[in-house]
Amino acid sequence: MNKRFLIYGANGYTGELITRFAVERGSKPVIAGRNEAAITALAEEHGLEPRVFSLDEREKLDAALQEVEVVLHCAGPFSLTSKTMVEACLRNRKHYTDITGEISVFEACAAQDKRAQEAGIMIMPGVGFDVVPTDCLAVHLKNRLPSATHLTLAFYGMGRLSHGTQATMTMNVGRGGAIRKDGKITSVPAAWKTREIDFGEVKKTSVTIPWGDVATAYHSTGIPNIEVYTVAPASALKMMKLSRYLGWLFATGPFQKYLQGNIPPGGPSDAERAKGKTLLWGEARDEQGNIVESRMQCPEGYTVTAFAALNVADKILAGNFTPGFQTPAKAYGGDLVLEIDGVTRQDD
Ligand SMILES: NC(=O)c1ccc[n+]([C@@H]2O[C@H](COP(=O)([O-])OP(=O)(O)OC[C@H]3O[C@@H](n4cnc5c(N)ncnc54)[C@H](OP(=O)(O)O)[C@@H]3O)[C@@H](O)[C@H]2O)c1
Repeated sequence: MNKRFLIYGANGYTGELITRFAVERGSKPVIAGRNEAAITALAEEHGLEPRVFSLDEREKLDAALQEVEVVLHCAGPFSLTSKTMVEACLRNRKHYTDITGEISVFEACAAQDKRAQEAGIMIMPGVGFDVVPTDCLAVHLKNRLPSATHLTLAFYGMGRLSHGTQATMTMNVGRGGAIRKDGKITSVPAAWKTREIDFGEVKKTSVTIPWGDVATAYHSTGIPNIEVYTVAPASALKMMKLSRYLGWLFATGPFQKYLQGNIPPGGPSDAERAKGKTLLWGEARDEQGNIVESRMQCPEGYTVTAFAALNVADKILAGNFTPGFQTPAKAYGGDLVLEIDGVTRQDD
């Protein structure tokens, strides 16, 4: 059996980081993307095999997948790229993973559960910072309170955002917020609720966002009511509230072109990542009034993304996978994130 994995979008900020860390761990992924110059240069730098193709070059895509067992898809926004790669994985019977955080992508992947089971492959979107730590926290809280009916998750990321993260956020700016209510993903206004959250080291005003767990935590835990919060600076909060009224305008072609064109390339440097960190908090409660709270401390978000994604790829290559649509903590348990150096967790 072929025991390699393919990183598609390897020349992006996160793809490059994952590629570098993979090589440092002794892995030899096949790296791919549509930018020939960037992919071949990266392959030369790390002594890896390059494959150059765009996602609509079906023959090349299939040929590349035939050489590997697992795809780690890093080319986002995933609402524009995931479907083609998922279809290719189903067709070629190869496992699919990605680093999306987009609710629509999680749900589109979940809808492929039966086909993935029939193909004997695992489809696991969200193997990055979104959603591995929060998904693990959700499962951990559910284990502590099996009768939970309400789940609230929050994170405080201290660090800079990459080009692709900003591009994806900008693309979705007019779409408002989302929560899970009585089992259904439900639209709410952008910045619907704010509350002060005690992250342990600091208390911070946090705001609801349509984070991936609104989709995934339900698949992982079955808890029917889910809200996710993050810490946003006052200026970002103001923009989010403004988008309630002007979101339609921000979503129009010329505005998007302008906003997307002003996003700087790249992402946090090694030094910035080393200084950054993320704090997480979660609470589960049930109808009898029982409440459990847990907190976590993690390295900076892109560092977590790279290690979490590589840990999952290694598990799949070792034969540790469950066919069908899976979330990280459903397949590997709430302690999966603790396998990353520097991650700690406490229960109240
Ligand atoms: N889950 C998480 O926690 C997490 C963490 C990090 C990033 N992300 C997400 O991952 C994505 C990438 O982020 P990034 O900062 O690494 O982005 P980036 O630096 O902008 O790189 C994007 C990569 O995707 C490729 N790409 C984009 N659209 C494509 C398409 N239609 N067909 C083929 N390739 C395409 C780009 O190729 P070209 O160079 O040829 O354009 C590039 O290789 C974003 O959606 C971001 O939100 C999620």
